[in-house]
Amino acid sequence: MCGIIGVAGKTEAVPVLLDGLEKLEYRGYDSAGIAVISKEGKLQVKKSKGRLCVLRERLRDENAPDGMIGIGHTRWATHGEPNDANAHPHLGQQGKIAVVHNGIIENYMEIKKSLLRKGITFCSDTDTEVVVQLLEYYYEKCKNLMDAVYAVLGRIKGAYAMGILCCDYPGQMIAVRQDAPLLIGCGKLGSYLASDVTALLAHTRTVAYMEDGEVAVLTPDSVQFFDRDRSPIEKETHTIKWDVAAAEKGGYSHFMLKEIMEQPEAIRKTVSPRIAGGEICLEELEAAPELIKTVCKIYIVACGSAYHVGMIGKYALEKLLRLPVEACLASEFRYSEPLLDEHTLVIVISQSGETLDSMAALREAKKQGAKVLSIVNVMGSSIARESDVVLYTWAGPEIAVATTKAYTTQMVLLFMLGVYMSKQLGHMDHEEYRTLVEEFSQLPDRAAEVLKDPDEYQKAAFGYFNHNSVFFIGRNIDYALGLEGSLKLKEISYIHSESYAAGELKHGTISLIEPGTLVVALATYAPLIEKSVSNIVEVKARGADVIALSTGETADKIKGQVSQLFVVPKVHPLLQPVLGVIPLQLFAYYVALNRGCDIDKPRNLAKSVTVE
Ligand code: G6P
Repeated sequence: MCGIIGVAGKTEAVPVLLDGLEKLEYRGYDSAGIAVISKEGKLQVKKSKGRLCVLRERLRDENAPDGMIGIGHTRWATHGEPNDANAHPHLGQQGKIAVVHNGIIENYMEIKKSLLRKGITFCSDTDTEVVVQLLEYYYEKCKNLMDAVYAVLGRIKGAYAMGILCCDYPGQMIAVRQDAPLLIGCGKLGSYLASDVTALLAHTRTVAYMEDGEVAVLTPDSVQFFDRDRSPIEKETHTIKWDVAAAEKGGYSHFMLKEIMEQPEAIRKTVSPRIAGGEICLEELEAAPELIKTVCKIYIVACGSAYHVGMIGKYALEKLLRLPVEACLASEFRYSEPLLDEHTLVIVISQSGETLDSMAALREAKKQGAKVLSIVNVMGSSIARESDVVLYTWAGPEIAVATTKAYTTQMVLLFMLGVYMSKQLGHMDHEEYRTLVEEFSQLPDRAAEVLKDPDEYQKAAFGYFNHNSVFFIGRNIDYALGLEGSLKLKEISYIHSESYAAGELKHGTISLIEPGTLVVALATYAPLIEKSVSNIVEVKARGADVIALSTGETADKIKGQVSQLFVVPKVHPLLQPVLGVIPLQLFAYYVALNRGCDIDKPRNLAKSVTVE
């Protein structure tokens, strides 16, 4: 959700904060703000409703704060509308302490009431202002910043990653974390805090991940960590290998288009290191063979597009493993009293590794004794760290809010896991295994073939961008694929769109089809092609305009029935949706482009969702 950045440095803070916020803007873009301690020891705050560019402009017009210690924030509004007053950083009423916060303070109202009774006045509707007012209240009483910080941590409940400045401590910055991502960077020119590593790559590659309950004190030359009880702790540091350029647009007009085009390479990075001598090697699992041998039931738990991977995974893994597999939305799973035990494997899928609902589901699963395997993109993220086994997608940083390469690589890795387990459990015959291993290796090239001529999708999008409502239909794996196609379209183009299991249409939804309604029919799944054609004919009979997606194998059956046909190369049926999603991503992208939408930052969304 929100992004926070902080620097205790040896150079001017503002450029570091603004560059960092630019990298974090995908986490929320309702407002942006910074606070810097000036050379005279004063807290200077600048903040504005709207995108970071509005703040940048303000800083150009007015005097930008000078000073080498500062914090910054980009907001995804929770408490209080997006306006200047609700923008972070927030100050205490004495103006001595400033705070940036990502998360939600659940008991803020109760604390606010008690502070109001003490005569403290508030200037925003946010839960964060309650923290800073409480902090200043304690600080005024005890005159020691760390005492005040620990007193506040003892009172607040909820999720938070915070950066704290106090003008009486002009040489330091404090970081605290509970259930929200926060990492600390140590560089030659200073120490840093950030919600995400991409904000730090320009300054350092040495980072430490903060754990729940920890507090860090940062100065330009040092970082000290303390636990919940205020005892000093040593923390391991990690070296980040991601390339700075990987988080830049590299000549593309949008991150989304760049990330779509990067898919062949991303898939290669996921697959190649895991195939050797004609075998799938998942080293991560070799240390935990019981995890496979004892499993009786699998839950795949995730949110958003990662959940759609789980939907496809359900069809694929049940077939491969002959075990019951359920795909669950993480936000539902955690409150549904799932029946788990030590024979249950819970697969958590998450690009960011920080999605709060997925994290909570993981913890619930572990509490009940289930084994947790996660498929994650961001190295060292919370979900990765708390899982029994983690498989990284290695897709590189994904910046556009609408996921593309993370989705495809999650799917590929889940399929590799399925095939690997199937072999271990003795369900896969040798011939099919060899074919699949070969096809995994060739998948990057097949994906590149789909991307060879994006013009086709651009032209199609031009003909359809004015529709107000679109239905995606498909059967089996195509139905699960339609969920993702529909989500992609609605999230970036704001066109109302729904995805239906094609066989279910006649039980209600077909009443919405009228002359001119756009239906995207997914028909890549060869075993059910006849049934899919019947569904296409049914919607056409009601006047629908149909775009279809097929493979070389199924195309003949559909040609002539539809206004537009996208054809992807035929691969093993298991791997087909990896190719099938690419035209849907490009179609959504070009439709949104024609509609003049802000593709990388769609309204109301954020890439990393760290609130419930
Ligand atoms: C947000 C993003 C989606 C993503 C979902 C889950 O809604 O916009 O693209 O699929 O969160 O995120 P995760 O990081 O857990 O994959």
